[in-house]
Amino acid sequence: MKPSPGSPVTSWPLPRSYHCNYSTHRSELTSMRVFKPAAIPPSEITSRERYLNRREVIAGLAGTGLAFGATTALAAERLKFTKNARLSTSEPTNSYEDITTYNNFYEFGTGKAEPAERAARFKPKPWSVTIAGEAEVKGTFTLEDILKPHALEERIYRLRCVEAWSMVIPWVGFPLGDLIRRFRPTSRARYVAFKSVMRPDEMPGQRFPVLDWPYVEGLRMDEAMHPLTILAAGLYGEVLPNQNGAPLRLVVPWKYGFKGIKSIVEIRFTERVPPTSWNISAPREYGFYANVNPQVDHPRWSQAQERRIGAGIFTPKQPTLMLNGYADQVASLYAGLDLRKNY
Ligand code: MTE
Repeated sequence: MKPSPGSPVTSWPLPRSYHCNYSTHRSELTSMRVFKPAAIPPSEITSRERYLNRREVIAGLAGTGLAFGATTALAAERLKFTKNARLSTSEPTNSYEDITTYNNFYEFGTGKAEPAERAARFKPKPWSVTIAGEAEVKGTFTLEDILKPHALEERIYRLRCVEAWSMVIPWVGFPLGDLIRRFRPTSRARYVAFKSVMRPDEMPGQRFPVLDWPYVEGLRMDEAMHPLTILAAGLYGEVLPNQNGAPLRLVVPWKYGFKGIKSIVEIRFTERVPPTSWNISAPREYGFYANVNPQVDHPRWSQAQERRIGAGIFTPKQPTLMLNGYADQVASLYAGLDLRKNY
């Protein structure tokens, strides 16, 4: 039986076509119980500073058994960046707490709270990224060399998960297109394939065959070159927390969140459509494109509406926007494509 929202999955390994539904519900309950009394008004949404003060209190409680999770966020490194208001939404951002404790990162477990609880042992430094495939310049580069030529920008983007929840996140990153140009892809390069790190010693979820590890994703070259597509190295002005995909992750705001591959170790230019983890796992449910589309339902649930994390349980769901509200900028990429077939 395929798990569906609310149906309990209690044992490992989880069924292969499983996508996050049970964990959404379970961790929603957990996070409501642990972090939020119901219905926090937006004015009360925790700022980064207030959250960290609270974490210090929590750290003080550590010996009492009342606290859990990593306290590495306390030492996070500030980044230098400028704000890109033109490409940012003016919607209120989610709290740092929401963004860093309600995660999908199956390498650390399928529960929403597990990445924050289990990612402290993960080492995002030192890091290197291999550039491979159809490009004139190739090789393995340190993260510092990857980042050095790029001025970082803050981009406040909506993130819409395929599970029908959403957040607004202030990423710090730079256009993927600028990185791609540095490596001079050849005329045969039609797609860009991404690979996440494989470290079962540090990532306990990789010891179970929930997905075919390592996590892989891909974009068409024109999607990868689009100015909205970024590689993020931070959020809320600081280096990415491990649970959000440190030290480098993809952000494609008009696509479902699962395209935003975390902890990238390889970028490869290819002639053919690259394999993608969720498509390998359940091809009828997750396509290569994964464009946010309220008119094309997931086979097991509607995509017409979404629940904004942190909005409070009495706040009604909000309508999902075509291409997650970025249609003006990106709809032309899909002119003439049947979006029902190419989901
Ligand atoms: N990348 C890797 N390597 N492993 C994952 O499990 N989950 C994806 C995506 N990137 C995932 C991943 C999914 S389903 C979503 S919705 C987003 O990351 C969540 O990003 P966030 O936890 O920073 O909000």
